[in-house]
Amino acid sequence: MTLEEFNKIAEDEVNKAKEESTLVHDESSLNDFKGKFLGKKSHLTDFYSLMKDIAKETKKDFGVALNDLRSKLQTIFEEKENALKQAKLNARLEKEKVDITLPGYHSHIGSKHPFYAVVDDITDFFVGLGYSVADGPEVESDRNNFELMNIPKDHPARDMQDSFSINENTILRSHTSCVQARVMELAKGQGPIKVICPGKVYRRDNDATHSHQFGQIEGLVISEDATFANLLETLTLLLKHLFGEKREVRFRPSFFPFTEPSVEADISCFGCNGKGCSLCKHTGWIEILGSGMVNPNVLRLNGFDDKKYQGFAFGIGIDRVAMLKYGIDDIKRFYTNDINFIDQFRKE
Ligand code: PHE
Repeated sequence: MTLEEFNKIAEDEVNKAKEESTLVHDESSLNDFKGKFLGKKSHLTDFYSLMKDIAKETKKDFGVALNDLRSKLQTIFEEKENALKQAKLNARLEKEKVDITLPGYHSHIGSKHPFYAVVDDITDFFVGLGYSVADGPEVESDRNNFELMNIPKDHPARDMQDSFSINENTILRSHTSCVQARVMELAKGQGPIKVICPGKVYRRDNDATHSHQFGQIEGLVISEDATFANLLETLTLLLKHLFGEKREVRFRPSFFPFTEPSVEADISCFGCNGKGCSLCKHTGWIEILGSGMVNPNVLRLNGFDDKKYQGFAFGIGIDRVAMLKYGIDDIKRFYTNDINFIDQFRKE
């Protein structure tokens, strides 16, 4: 066979492949096609096995022609293979088409509850001053809640905080001071302590600003040199942080069984700037928290040497701060889980 004759046969083979490729429509006919033109039993393979009989001088030219044939057949196969893949993909895209003009489903995204916005804000403030945060159970012993806070059984001071009894020795805690008792117990008489205790507390109260449950953040500092001046400075900073630099802060003498001396802090009313309005009950001032120097009895009852250690404590109502900050009219809104109420505090 001359090279020309071979070229003619090769051309015929390529034309045949082109023609037959038009009949390939799926994977199985593509495989048949591949077998027929490129596989072991193809003419191409036969031609390769004939190479050994070709005269040396023309062998190179035959080789080039044969490789050319193979690459042409291979190209026809690949083009078909790609066309099939593309067609398959197009069919899938057509089937899975999404109409992006259809309105989507609206999913409700939650937002921070105003109660916890205040907890987080106050906690961040105290953590920034080096306080740690302690937690305790809401069902507490009478001892931690009252006795270790210098309020013995049957003492009239108990009237200030009527709570809910589980039994004679177990109650729903009426303040988070009991967490401070737990912190002092763990400290085994060794200061310093610098801690805040946020959490839910329970009392027998029921009106627009008092409810059977509310939140408190109490703080306790015990060291060899914590002073009344430190207390005033800390609480003034806190109140200005919460209600703005422009607010004036005043301290009034008060009474708590666990502190001596005790003071309550007021801020100048932001509704009327001190002139008098319904928000401040026409006094110009809004009561905001209770505090004082830790009563030496409390130090002793909780295992601290009151000759060596002194300290201060304070308690602030979370709901009350949130009501004032956000203008909320009824404390019960905090736990009735009305989504329309909570949604108003979303920060976009
Ligand atoms: N435990 C007090 C209360 O719940 C608040 C308070 C804490 C007052 C610490 C003074 C010092 O009413």
